[in-house]
Amino acid sequence: MTPGTASGAVPDAGVWAAPGRVNLIGEHTDYNDGFCLPFALPLQVTVAARRSAPGRWVARSSWASPAVEFTADGLAPGSVTGWGAYVAGVVWSMLDSGLDVPGAELEITSDLPSGSGLSSSAALECAVQRALLDLGGLSVPGREQALLAQRAENAYVGMPCGVMDQSAAVLCEDGHALFLDTRSGAVSQVPFDIASRGLAVLVVDTRSPHRLVDGEYAERRSSCEDAARQLGVAALRDATLPDLGVLPGLLRRRARHVVTENQRVLDTVALLSAGDVEAIGPLLTASHASLRDDFEVTVPRLDLAADTAVAAGAFGARMTGGGFGGCVIALVRSSRAGEVAAAVAKAFDAAGFGAPETFLAVPSPGARRLS
Ligand code: GLA
Repeated sequence: MTPGTASGAVPDAGVWAAPGRVNLIGEHTDYNDGFCLPFALPLQVTVAARRSAPGRWVARSSWASPAVEFTADGLAPGSVTGWGAYVAGVVWSMLDSGLDVPGAELEITSDLPSGSGLSSSAALECAVQRALLDLGGLSVPGREQALLAQRAENAYVGMPCGVMDQSAAVLCEDGHALFLDTRSGAVSQVPFDIASRGLAVLVVDTRSPHRLVDGEYAERRSSCEDAARQLGVAALRDATLPDLGVLPGLLRRRARHVVTENQRVLDTVALLSAGDVEAIGPLLTASHASLRDDFEVTVPRLDLAADTAVAAGAFGARMTGGGFGGCVIALVRSSRAGEVAAAVAKAFDAAGFGAPETFLAVPSPGARRLS
């Protein structure tokens, strides 16, 4: 990438935000060079930042004390841990790419629940990064911003995620879902103003803790890489269903999820582009089944929430994000959202699960300066 310098006035201070996301469809495809279709939430991380002495950063958050402080000297993966690693990781990644990152004091707040699979980590990274870019008068294209933040998470925090969450946090637009080709970096904004059509995406936070830093996510990723190697392709993006027969059983199922999920993303985008929103419902439900049966990243609460939502009249429902807990999304008629949410709450109660949280997801803008 080519670090650039922005023209125009460089602020000394300001307030920046980056959103969480749900992924409409295209799960565990991003690290296979595949397709995904996230949209940003109105829930976000907000950073009030001011430029300060060069080579030193201080970050305070509303959810943890004490403040995190670090300097450019000795900044390396592992040098800051806990939530501060996301901040230090961004500074490290930016410095490492040759950007002249200004020293800064950062006050961070968030209305995004963490551990719910709504991408609070990427929101934190991208809000901090956007603040530092603007305070430094630095201009970096959106795709490169997403890659820099992903590198912070991969190489500094140690979570081998793909680029979907950071891309959503940077590139999403109001009223649209982001169709992302993770191989080429090409994006297109797919109109998703479903409220005007009497539809809504209901998010059910199952409140089962999801921990992606644990080994399961990394294990899925390396199974996919292993499958691609055995097939002799660069990534599972390049495989077709008939190719998969040569793989041993478990790898075949993992790869089948990725191959079929990529196709479901393309089919979803085609339906949305044709204005046929309700028709994506069965694709969402099929995605959940594939994540449950072939990729094995669902848990009983996710399955119960998705099944109950569909039984209660949703057009389709699926887990969203990495899995192993977190959230389900359901496409519903707006007038029936309350009924579907109540059915899920009742089913959770009957199963002895704690009450889920539900809210409607409105497609919102990506990272930006607020003031
Ligand atoms: C997490 C990762 C993403 C993506 C999803 C699964 O959210 O951060 O890169 O792999 O899981 O689609």
